[in-house]
Amino acid sequence: GRRVTVRDIAAAKERGERWPMVTAYDAMTARVFDEAGIPVLLVGDSAAMVVYGHDSTLPVSVDELLPLTSAVVRGSSRAMVVADLPFGSYQASPQQALETAARFMKEAGAHAIKLEGGRRVLPQVETLVSAGIPVMAHLGLTPQSVNAFGGYRVQGRGQSGDELMADAKDLEYAGAFAVVLECVPGDLAERVTASLSIPTVGIGAGPATDAQVLVWQDLMGLTPNPPKFVKRYADLAGEMDRAVRAFADEVTGGAFPTVEHSYR
Ligand code: KIV
Ligand code: NA
Repeated sequence: GRRVTVRDIAAAKERGERWPMVTAYDAMTARVFDEAGIPVLLVGDSAAMVVYGHDSTLPVSVDELLPLTSAVVRGSSRAMVVADLPFGSYQASPQQALETAARFMKEAGAHAIKLEGGRRVLPQVETLVSAGIPVMAHLGLTPQSVNAFGGYRVQGRGQSGDELMADAKDLEYAGAFAVVLECVPGDLAERVTASLSIPTVGIGAGPATDAQVLVWQDLMGLTPNPPKFVKRYADLAGEMDRAVRAFADEVTGGAFPTVEHSYR
């Protein structure tokens, strides 16, 4: 079958259908999620933290994200693959954004890109959309601005909710095909979702958004202290701990390998 496209995403909103998005950073997890029917895979700059071990998303580079994006594209056959533009790779100018986005499309085979921010990145969004690059926007707790926010805190409370709404409408007008809403009050996310004709993708934004996204290591129970908005659907850390201890015990005790796993 063919890949999910921006037209499918738009049609889902018209039909009132909700959809899931998960992050992926390598071919094997991409294949599992793709075969499970996840329509959109995000190669998030969260790779800075969950792949590279940094304590924020800021340090990761384009050159570090490109090979992960290629792997996710190779590991999937049906999902749309969205590549996150990392901190510092698009803010300077629309030209910089176009050059970076073009690398993700040409070198890694991404089908769309995501970037953070509202009205301050509208020129970037317009330039990318004019070049035929589908753009997913990202508002609310945009982690690349953690230093400006003074920590990872809920955004869009009170007056700033109106600004977020204005940002969302401007992003839609500029041609974004979807907008992520991260860590905002559920009632604000509900109002934004009702006001836009493009889908909203919530993370810590309550139940009203058109789609939901989680970092896969969070939803699978690999990350030690996930935020409140995470629901764990598996305990992979526990399962992997059990398995690797069993392997270690069998190696030290001589129970593995036996003839069954040996050549003669
Ligand atoms: O980088 C990321 O994983 C993200 C999602 C959580 C939206 O931006
Ligand atoms: Na991100």
